[in-house]
Amino acid sequence: MSRASENLAVLGLQWGDEGKGKLVDLLAPRYRHVVRFQGGNNAGHTVVVDGQSIALHQVPSGALHPGCFLVVGSGVVLNLDVFHVELSRLRERGIEVTDRLLLSDKAHVILPHHIALDIWREERAHKVGAKIGTTGRGIGPAYEMKAARMGVRLGDLKHLEVLADRIRPGYDEVRLRLGPDLGTGADLPSIEAIVENLLKAVEPLLHCIGNTQSRLQEAWTKGEQILFEGAQATMLDLDHGTYPFVTSSNCSLGGLFTGTGLPPKALHRVLGVAKAYTTRVGAGPMVSELTNELGDRIREAGHEYGTTTGRPRRCGWFDAPITAHACRTNGVDGLAIMKLDVLDGLDQVGLVVGYRDGNGNLTSELPSCAAEWADLKPEIKMFKGWSVPTRGITHHQQLPAEAQGYLDAVAEAVEMPIAYVSTGPDRAEGCLYPGTFLESLMS
Ligand code: GDP
Ligand code: IMO
Ligand code: MG
Repeated sequence: MSRASENLAVLGLQWGDEGKGKLVDLLAPRYRHVVRFQGGNNAGHTVVVDGQSIALHQVPSGALHPGCFLVVGSGVVLNLDVFHVELSRLRERGIEVTDRLLLSDKAHVILPHHIALDIWREERAHKVGAKIGTTGRGIGPAYEMKAARMGVRLGDLKHLEVLADRIRPGYDEVRLRLGPDLGTGADLPSIEAIVENLLKAVEPLLHCIGNTQSRLQEAWTKGEQILFEGAQATMLDLDHGTYPFVTSSNCSLGGLFTGTGLPPKALHRVLGVAKAYTTRVGAGPMVSELTNELGDRIREAGHEYGTTTGRPRRCGWFDAPITAHACRTNGVDGLAIMKLDVLDGLDQVGLVVGYRDGNGNLTSELPSCAAEWADLKPEIKMFKGWSVPTRGITHHQQLPAEAQGYLDAVAEAVEMPIAYVSTGPDRAEGCLYPGTFLESLMS
């Protein structure tokens, strides 16, 4: 199989769960390195091979390809216990990755008090109706502690003499905040117990911890190809998403550079990933949401339940304004439209081409403030559905004419060419579009 000649980023353009895992697995054989650069085990990336499904949370989705070297960059927050569960699930399938894995010694570790603070805060917010709907994995607090300079990095785990002192400031602050609630179901392990658990968890991985920046710089200089795997998506980006209903990392392009230590020149192409409709899990604005039977039908047809938490995902029509915003933010070169088959059999398919504001004016600008989103209503263009199923189709000319018409309208509304259309969860189910960078990469 030929190797790609360009480094590529695969980034989500909506609110996550677009199918990034499937694409990274599909593309990985062309690349020497597959890199996660932000997020943590809030991510759930599904790879399906021969009907068998594997959910990856922190291990890069190139895991199934023995020729891929896996890198977890400094922008990631890592839960070591969960990491071991992932490694053993892979081992059960005969896949060993620890001999081709490098974890950044600068990546931060998710600690029990981060998880406790995340859950405690969401419970309190719930009482006043201000819940974000986090995954409860301690992601926000881990990044907070990083910014507050109270974080613990993987490299710190090699220094037993200072480890307890590194943990203490953050730990004490969380205890202060949780104060009266401690002992009422929200108790924390002692620092000694945390240290003991960390040492146990890190021991088998010590040979996998090192300088990922140097490794990637070297790979880039030598012309070894690199595939960057985004987690979450632009609308969950801390700066460019629907703040405060976002995650705590930069999941759009900027996070790739801070999360790896590579310069922009090291990236050549960006593949933007979006579903043929929209989903969101957790709270926050979603103009395209269908809170009716149609939304339920899409949820059931698409199995739209969280890979990480099992929560039902909110479903709606494809939202062109958010996707166009994401394309601009990330400098996307082409679209991968996923899960087209989920829309099979609908009489009509909708496309949100703009928003009507409180005065009835049409706009495609995204508000900066959550309060302003509430005034917006979707401007929906309806298309005739298709009765011939698209499931499993591998040549775009074989897609029903109505589906092709709908996809053309999506590309026009987003002002971005389509490079790939996915027609099922398996690697083999999908169509490469001729004349696109992705086609030349895969040929
Ligand atoms: P990620 O977080 O972006 O990697 O996406 P997830 O894995 O959380 O969610 C995508 C889900 O859709 C997974 O269950 C995939 O197996 C599935 N999937 C991916 N592409 C397709 C497709 O084209 N059709 C269908 N029906 N399912 C798909
Ligand atoms: P992948 O990589 C979908 C959402 C949560 C919540 C918000 C903040 O699989 O696409 P957090 O736990 O990060 O503080 O939660 O972000 N969220 C995701 N939604 N896919 C994801 O990852 C997500 N990771 C976080 O539901 O709304
Ligand atoms: Mg997911």
